[in-house]
Amino acid sequence: MADVDYEKAYIREKQLRKQAEQLLEDRSRELYLSNKQLQEVNDALHDQQRVMVQTEKMASLGVLAAGVAHEINNPLGYIYSNFSSLVEGLQDIQRFLNQADQLIVGGQSVEQIQEAWREGLMLFDIAYLLSDYQNLAIETIEGLERVKQIVADLKSFTRQDDGTRTAVDINDCLRAAINILNNQTKYHAQLSVDYGELPEISGYFGKLNQVFVNLIANANQAVEENGQIEIVSRVNNGFIEVVIRDDGHGIDEEHMKYLFTPFFTTKPVGQGTGLGLSISHNAVQEHGGDIRVESTLGVGTTFTVRIPLDKA
Ligand SMILES: Nc1ncnc2c1ncn2[C@@H]1O[C@H](COP(=O)(O)OP(=O)(O)OP(=O)(O)O)[C@@H](O)[C@H]1O
Ligand SMILES: [Mg+2]
Repeated sequence: MADVDYEKAYIREKQLRKQAEQLLEDRSRELYLSNKQLQEVNDALHDQQRVMVQTEKMASLGVLAAGVAHEINNPLGYIYSNFSSLVEGLQDIQRFLNQADQLIVGGQSVEQIQEAWREGLMLFDIAYLLSDYQNLAIETIEGLERVKQIVADLKSFTRQDDGTRTAVDINDCLRAAINILNNQTKYHAQLSVDYGELPEISGYFGKLNQVFVNLIANANQAVEENGQIEIVSRVNNGFIEVVIRDDGHGIDEEHMKYLFTPFFTTKPVGQGTGLGLSISHNAVQEHGGDIRVESTLGVGTTFTVRIPLDKA
């Protein structure tokens, strides 16, 4: 009797255990599957974020491109006109030399050749041409340098940091950002920049460049015609600080906590995507730093980017 009971109990327990194991296995599988799903969603989100950051970059590049085209067009215009003058002048010099050559080949006397030479110098205004050439050449080289600089700045803006840190001079980074925005700011705001002496840090040039482009673009959008934008770089308390101060419309107290949230914007549709500050925040955080804001409505706004100095 007791044996039968034991056997029943044994079988029952075995069944229960099997059920429990089955249940556990089912749950583990479910858990595994939902974990896998989560992982996939997470990866997709990361991909999306990467695309969004790149898209924002391209969108701001689109806005910049129009201005940059104008910036390049200006030096190109005078390089072109200088070159046309150079070619015209060169033709005159060639005519003058041909004339002189013919006199020599024609066996004229030295006096005649001298006379014709002096006349030719006057006629073709050779002295003026030569002195003009020097000015034209200097101006042309300056124009070419300017174009070269614009292209370099554009390159630095679109530069995809390849995941390795390099030595970054924050002042260079700031300078490139200011140059790239020059066309937007120069007719709208008064920019003053005070570059402090900074040590290099190890970081991502492209990302920091984008931070400064975003902050300066915001300041420029916040100020009235002829508004003031003051930019200062300095070392303070173990940090490199870049201060961007504007005397624009300021930020509403209740907007302060949303500033760095993706897609928060007070700008009209089509003007702002609301990604500038959130992207900048992430980029600065990647350098172990932070961005601080102070603002008074109707008075102005100060953004301070702080990046810790390398602990050498
Ligand atoms: N210097 C500033 N002065 C006043 N308001 C500012 C300033 N900088 C940012 N803001 C406010 O913060 C909001 C978010 O800025 P953010 O740069 O993230 O987006 P956005 O400028 O609106 O759009 P995007 O930068 O994507 O073109 C702005 O819409 C604006 O209301
Ligand atoms: Mg912005």
